[in-house]
Amino acid sequence: MSDHWKKLRILTTNHCSYNCEYCHNEGHKPSYVSSPMSCDDFVMIMEAVKPLGFEEIIFSGGDPLLNPATVDMIEWADNNTDHKITVETNGSAVTDEIAARIGNTRAMLNVHYPAAYENEYRLVTGCSIEPFTQAVRFLDKYRIPHVFNFVLHPDHMEGLDGVIDHVIEARKQIELLPYVESGMNNISAGIIRRVTDILDSTSSQKSFEDDYRITVWTFGNGGKVKLIKSPCYDRDIDMCKGFGELRILPDLTLQKCRFDDDSIKLGGLSPEEIRDKINVLRDSFTTCI
Ligand SMILES: C[S@@+](CC[C@H](N)C(=O)[O-])C[C@H]1O[C@@H](n2cnc3c(N)ncnc32)[C@H](O)[C@@H]1O
Ligand code: SF4
Repeated sequence: MSDHWKKLRILTTNHCSYNCEYCHNEGHKPSYVSSPMSCDDFVMIMEAVKPLGFEEIIFSGGDPLLNPATVDMIEWADNNTDHKITVETNGSAVTDEIAARIGNTRAMLNVHYPAAYENEYRLVTGCSIEPFTQAVRFLDKYRIPHVFNFVLHPDHMEGLDGVIDHVIEARKQIELLPYVESGMNNISAGIIRRVTDILDSTSSQKSFEDDYRITVWTFGNGGKVKLIKSPCYDRDIDMCKGFGELRILPDLTLQKCRFDDDSIKLGGLSPEEIRDKINVLRDSFTTCI
């Protein structure tokens, strides 16, 4: 396995309109307050990291689409890089105009789908499901490639059956994410085993991707459920670096792990100094935090 970060996770804001009870908020402490990232700062970072061989940019947050500059960043990345571009969002800020702009790029969306029905959705997020439903209509209208994701938290499993039914019916894909938290307590391990057994008993085809990191159940109409392994569960440093991500926060601090308190300020540094900081961090990251 390659000892190399291939993904760059850009957190363009730490602001979110939802309040998901299990949210790790990408490791931001509740006290962390930052202005949203500007497109100029994003471009400066991207120019600096160009020689480092990243293959994918993942925009996340908070909810990245609450920062209007994020769509400018997506368009810049589409025009100026050949990286895969992914946007993680709850969908609440996807308007017809935003969807039309994203639809003109190669970006794909990974949309958080915690429940299929209003009451369950509100219980998890504190908000109505209607903006999510509208967002999915816009994604279909502009043919924006998208997958959904569901966090396997023991206290929030009510919605899973409905979500899987809807996703398969629509011939789409859902990624099941192990719940992770600071301290790596692995509290979803039992849920992961139960969900695996249930999916194994369905009339679907089972296969594996990415060196067994992803288990895929493909249903008769092409709809898919994917269970993603988390490196945090085994503190697997090779998986973490091979499939994991280097992270840049809205205030331009660099972080090797969402649960790591150590962060390195990139603001005001030259492109060479930024590359140097990343290389030193990469080389010194040999064990889980
Ligand atoms: C923190 S959210 C930010 C982007 C956006 N607001 C969203 O919900 O997709 C990024 C991703 O983390 C997932 N997530 C949130 N809390 C999690 C947790 N404790 N463990 C695992 N995944 C989590 C969400 O489902 C989402 O796919
Ligand atoms: S929508 Fe995303 S960032 Fe917002 S609270 Fe939920 S998981 Fe966290």
